[in-house]
Amino acid sequence: MEFQKIAIIGSGFMGSGIAQVCAQAGYQAVLVDIDELRLEKALESVEWSVGKLVSKGALKESMDTILGRIETASSYDAACDADLLIEAVYEEVNLKEKVLSELDEVCGLDTVFASNTSTIPITKLAAATNRANRVIGMHFFGPVPLMRLVEIIPNPQTTDEVVQAALEFARSVGKNPILVKEDIPGFLMNRIFGAMTCEAIRLLERGAGSIEDIDNGMCDGFSMHVGPLCIADLAGLDVSLNAFNVMHALDPDYAPVAPELLHRLVSEGKLGAKTGEGFYRWDEFGKRLGPAF
Ligand SMILES: NC(=O)c1ccc[n+]([C@@H]2O[C@H](COP(=O)([O-])OP(=O)(O)OC[C@H]3O[C@@H](n4cnc5c(N)ncnc54)[C@H](O)[C@@H]3O)[C@@H](O)[C@H]2O)c1
Repeated sequence: MEFQKIAIIGSGFMGSGIAQVCAQAGYQAVLVDIDELRLEKALESVEWSVGKLVSKGALKESMDTILGRIETASSYDAACDADLLIEAVYEEVNLKEKVLSELDEVCGLDTVFASNTSTIPITKLAAATNRANRVIGMHFFGPVPLMRLVEIIPNPQTTDEVVQAALEFARSVGKNPILVKEDIPGFLMNRIFGAMTCEAIRLLERGAGSIEDIDNGMCDGFSMHVGPLCIADLAGLDVSLNAFNVMHALDPDYAPVAPELLHRLVSEGKLGAKTGEGFYRWDEFGKRLGPAF
């Protein structure tokens, strides 16, 4: 099984990054979004990012060659002849089910459907299509051009051929895939991140340690580059809260309840780096300034 044309549905932070790494690896990519403005912004951000890599000498091809492999579309019809489709719309179960079900009608029977969901079991999403054996989770980490990890999550019906093709595809775009053997909410990485971060926030909440001491402790004690509170700020506290809520709702016995402090920060609009304040204060260039409280 070989992929040549890749359709990416949703041209936000993740979709634009996925289109970029596909184009850099020589694939034809079509980026599909219902919002034309998001498509324009996606192309601008890919151009900026590829430009930076070209100027550093990190890419062998010219910017024009790479950008020439990306087309944009606002209709799902543009995905009809894709070999691989990667869904990257908002993290909402109903929306993803609707999008995949509509694309199931449009795409050829051979098209493999991948979802970039961070938390929703692939079995649930596959059930919205008539091709469950060709549906797989392909969970890239952001920013996609920089992060090496991709979680590959088969659902119980996914064929071995599709699993191997997904692993191979992830390697071909420069990533180090890991295979998730059980299709649980949050997969491997967000389960671990959720447990660790919820505990870090709860310890902060009860006054057991400061923001900086908790994060510095995790860096110095567990060889992390940045601590869990900082990662949550970078991911967006609203995004983190949503992920923790989805995991807990789908697997209440194992996944922790999101801490009260996280709910409060989100309700106050303190969403982390993107709003200038979360656990830390941030400047407009994304530089961390210091703890917010
Ligand atoms: N942000 C992260 O760090 C991160 C990391 C890993 C995985 N993810 C997952 O990736 C997915 C996308 O996240 P994001 O951060 O890129 O979101 P985003 O908000 O940046 O982009 C979502 C895009 O989906 C588009 N969209 C919405 N409805 C659509 C539809 N019906 N058809 C086509 N396009 C539609 C929106 O217009 C928007 O451009 C989510 O499932 C998220 O959980 C996010």
